[in-house]
Amino acid sequence: MSHESVEIVPSILSADFGRLAAEVEAVRAAGIHKIQVDVMDGRFVPNISVGLPVVEALARDGGVALDVHLMIEEPGRWVDAFVGAGATVVTVHAEAERHLQRTLGRVRELGALAGAALNPGSPACMLEEVLADVDVVLVMTVNPGFGGQRFLPSTLAKVHRLRTWVHERGLTAAIQVDGGIGPGTARLAVEAGATQLVAGSAVFAGGVAVGDAIAALRAEVAAARPWSATGG
Ligand code: DX5
Repeated sequence: MSHESVEIVPSILSADFGRLAAEVEAVRAAGIHKIQVDVMDGRFVPNISVGLPVVEALARDGGVALDVHLMIEEPGRWVDAFVGAGATVVTVHAEAERHLQRTLGRVRELGALAGAALNPGSPACMLEEVLADVDVVLVMTVNPGFGGQRFLPSTLAKVHRLRTWVHERGLTAAIQVDGGIGPGTARLAVEAGATQLVAGSAVFAGGVAVGDAIAALRAEVAAARPWSATGG
């Protein structure tokens, strides 16, 4: 995989919600085509964020594809609503969905891309039986619920393991990482096998202009050693 195919997906969790349209325009101006919307229910994670109205508004006006990360209990109840609201990707947590394979199939049936996510404490084998049912494998590199947390290096081995499984099976699922991704950790994630980098605070709360933040991430990606199945 060439570095050009490593995608940066800004998460709006750390964006200024009083200026959300302007924030989305800023990432669009930097050549970003997809953003992540973190949906939190206060039960699966100890925080409440946004829901359907924000997804609908972004789908109507944002001009970017929407990767909706459902950090909610029993997400199967909501996939139809979020695809209907304009989600391009819907990612559910394996820890929160009793009938994971069915829910992933439903997302695809609705015409969206299906994602499955794992918390840092969850083993890669939780997704082993659904690797052919997903378009995105999301390896959380922080415990979900908040932006601006410290990256957990212990998750890198899981990133490599899942990228290797996808490679060995001839599958095409993206390997996405989310949490603490920024200067210094973006490279580690790419070298471990990540193909999509979700970054929130590094993009919207890093103390630099959004365009500069994205350029810095792209530079790190370009400097990363390409992943290989035999690499460490
Ligand atoms: C779960 C959220 C965050 C967010 C990115 O907590 O999914 O990980 O997207 O947060 P940063 O990039 O600020 O760590």
